[in-house]
Amino acid sequence: MDSYDVLVIGGGPAGYVAAIRAAQLGFKVACVDAFERGGKASLGGTCLNVGCIPSKAMLDSSEKFEMINHEAAEHGIQVDGARVDLGKMLGRKESVVDKLTGGIAYLFKKNKITSLHGLGRLVRQDGDGWIVDAAGTEVRAKNVIVATGSSPRALPGAPFGGNIVDNSGALAFEQVPGKLGVIGAGVIGVELGSVWRRLGAQVTVLEALPGFLLAADDAISKEALKQLQKQGLDFHFSVQITEVKQGDSGVTVTYEEKGQAVTAQFDKLIVSIGRVPHTAGLGADAVGLQLDERGFVKVDDHYRTNLPGVYAIGDVIGGAMLAHKAEEEGVAVAEQLAGQAGHVNYAVIPWVIYTSPEIAWAGLTEKGAKEKGLKVKTGQFPFSANGRALGHGDPRGFVKVVADADTDKILGVHMVGPNVSELIGETVAIMEFGGSAEDLARTVHAHPTLSEVVKEAALATDKRALHM
Ligand code: FAD
Ligand code: NAI
Repeated sequence: MDSYDVLVIGGGPAGYVAAIRAAQLGFKVACVDAFERGGKASLGGTCLNVGCIPSKAMLDSSEKFEMINHEAAEHGIQVDGARVDLGKMLGRKESVVDKLTGGIAYLFKKNKITSLHGLGRLVRQDGDGWIVDAAGTEVRAKNVIVATGSSPRALPGAPFGGNIVDNSGALAFEQVPGKLGVIGAGVIGVELGSVWRRLGAQVTVLEALPGFLLAADDAISKEALKQLQKQGLDFHFSVQITEVKQGDSGVTVTYEEKGQAVTAQFDKLIVSIGRVPHTAGLGADAVGLQLDERGFVKVDDHYRTNLPGVYAIGDVIGGAMLAHKAEEEGVAVAEQLAGQAGHVNYAVIPWVIYTSPEIAWAGLTEKGAKEKGLKVKTGQFPFSANGRALGHGDPRGFVKVVADADTDKILGVHMVGPNVSELIGETVAIMEFGGSAEDLARTVHAHPTLSEVVKEAALATDKRALHM
């Protein structure tokens, strides 16, 4: 029987990164992953195959189409008759995915990680290790890292299939739907809703909660909603879905809105109402692996489960369901196994939503900071007063810095605007070092760049923005 120091179950961002870091630290490592794309093994989990990467590829392609159709003329570029070749666009997305998933296979080889394709199932404890059924063959591992990720949550009574799709289906429509319904105005809803709206669909978003992106700073979610509505996304809040019926040519959704029953007909329906931990096939029950009431694997601060030698990381343990959070946990758990002090700073995990304009934040919102009893000061600066944004022709949005009024420490930074997915990075680094608004304001930012808006927002916390 093959024997390993570390066996990782799941080859997504949590699992593959844990495997690589463990191998770097000198462990003998195997990773067993069940994901298949087009009938073939494909490493990288949800993120690389049907999540982060393909969605961003489609967001980029559709944004280029939008630019050519609606923004090029403003730059003095006249383009007539631009049209979408959806097959080619989807093919490009798949080739990006192929490159990256193949890249993980290469990294496994480079780091001498044994890659097994199939299910991993905990079988029994064996001395100071575990016997795991890895893709149909029993192997022994001293340490097991469970990184089995998450799956899309279905609406009760409306299983995925046909015209009711999850993220995978929504990234592979063969035609642009005429009428697209989206249930859930969360991250997937607005990203994939934006893709298909730009490609020509009429998009209706039905959300149960009374507001939009409630985890974001109020100023940001208000501005983002305004911009998305302006583009034509039709949002309905505080709705209650009462029935979803699949027909031959589409889906009928009945919902209650403001006390009225409404029936809407869609060609396709994306259900994006959150994700659930994926533990099917893991053998959790048989070995007594403890899950919490929502099905997440229970871990302590060191990613230890209730079973000795079994750890869990990534989406399957809950918290922010983000690839970079999963990756950092992968690094941390491997370092802990090597006796090092791996840790993740959960207070500064950036969130980025890749709509147009982009949305990004890290740390506390103004409201959240006040709820913690902190005295806060804020500074806000608009992209409309920034030379680079005007040059780009995209001056929408602003940056808001939330700082401690007594110590000047940055508590949170919130952005909506062009390229903020990249701008959030420097503020995360400053927050990681416990930096102040003054630190950010005194850092020299190249001119003309969008990043000057970040500096100006930091200056604005002391009412000394220079260009406003
Ligand atoms: P996963 O990526 O889900 O990987 C788990 C892997 O384990 C899968 O390959 C699965 O097949 C395998 N597996 C499960 N059970 C077993 C078993 N018993 N045996 C063997 N293998 C098993 N996050 C971001 O940070 N940025 C984004 O832009 C972003 N965009 C997203 C867009 C979409 C449409 C979706 C759906 C998600 C997006 N996410 C994004 C979230 C991100 O994909 C997840 O947070 C991330 O993939 C979690 O990584 P993971 O390794 O924990 O799980
Ligand atoms: P989500 O949690 O972001 O949003 C789900 C939305 O559906 C919520 O607003 C919720 O109130 C609503 N909802 C729940 N039940 C409902 C119902 N019955 N009727 C109507 N609305 C309902 O989940 P989503 O969009 O499915 O994405 C899952 C996760 O994937 C995200 O939380 C995020 O962690 C990750 N992701 C991250 C991305 C990024 O970082 N850019 C992009 C896409 C996904």
